[in-house]
Amino acid sequence: MAAAGDRLVKGVVLAGGRGTRLRPITFAMAKQLVPIANRPIIAYGIEDLVTAGIGDLAVVVSPETGPDVRRVLGTGSGFGARITYVEQEAPLGLAHALSVALPIVGDDDVLMYLGDNLLKGGVTDVVADFETHRPDAQILLQKVADPSAFGVAELDASGRVVKLEEKPARPASDLVLVGVYLFSAGIEDALDELEPSARGEYEITDAIQWLIDHGRSVRSTKVSGWWKDTGTKEDLLHANELVLSDLVPTIGSELHGCAVSGPVAIGRRCTVVDSELVGPLVVGDDTTIVGSTLRAGTAVGDRCRVESASIERSILMDGSAVSGWSLRDSIVGVDAFVVGPAPDEPISLSLGERSEIGRR
Ligand code: TTP
Repeated sequence: MAAAGDRLVKGVVLAGGRGTRLRPITFAMAKQLVPIANRPIIAYGIEDLVTAGIGDLAVVVSPETGPDVRRVLGTGSGFGARITYVEQEAPLGLAHALSVALPIVGDDDVLMYLGDNLLKGGVTDVVADFETHRPDAQILLQKVADPSAFGVAELDASGRVVKLEEKPARPASDLVLVGVYLFSAGIEDALDELEPSARGEYEITDAIQWLIDHGRSVRSTKVSGWWKDTGTKEDLLHANELVLSDLVPTIGSELHGCAVSGPVAIGRRCTVVDSELVGPLVVGDDTTIVGSTLRAGTAVGDRCRVESASIERSILMDGSAVSGWSLRDSIVGVDAFVVGPAPDEPISLSLGERSEIGRR
């Protein structure tokens, strides 16, 4: 039941998938739970939906990582949302994920949000535009330099969407589909007709193409502000940087003998001694930083230990430790550690949960 004030658009948030491009991190962790500025990626999307008045959410999860996603998001009440979880048995594509969630959506309109996407401007404007024009589908587009890694849209001279293609070798334009899609109930007709693509997935681009080919209305709007699809390590580090660029500085623990410049946020019960902190950067709760340099674009989680180390543009997840090493453009998983003899130069690495470099 929608609460008073809610829109009659339901949210479908995709939190399944394989996450192969983010291995080894995703061997032990759902991609959507990777922390960006110390919060799971998916939390940003859910907040955007709630802000747009969409509180009834179906979250599609995989059998492997579903329990973790449920543990982190719970009933959704912490976000002001009501979450129903739907299991997608296998990652058979975005259109397949939508079809497993449709029984929950019923005849309501739906906003499908890819749980590993971040949108600076949120979705409030596009939801309002959809409700004004009431097309069968509405897509969001953004210009990118490397369109062949995404779904690509071809528009005619009047700006109408004429063709969509998933990861084309020769893109027809540099406009790609952002991971936010709005549909009215007619999308079910397209999903019923869909066949798997050459890569064996049910593609959402094929479903929208079906709508175009059958004379249904497909509207597109361009994204204002940045959009980030966090499919790769570099995407994650860039997303972390982008979110940190809006950081509100807060120092929740006492610092001793430290030099601080730029926006810095430090959590509670931290020990921060003889260190240089160059923001924007964030440090969680119960973390120890001693004799180290933390540079811009870095997020250090809760219960971490950074000792005689230098960390730049990196993500250190909860419980991780770095001692004596210089890391740059790195991701260190939950409870992983990097200690012992270090290379002379700063190094870029990606370390999965509970992985170890050196002996403690
Ligand atoms: P993708 O990044 O396209 O796919 P993936 O997560 O399998 O990653 P990779 O290509 O690195 O193996 O997925 C976009 C989002 O949609 C992401 O949040 C995962 C989710 N998803 C599902 O929920 N079900 C699916 O069947 C697929 C393919 C993706």
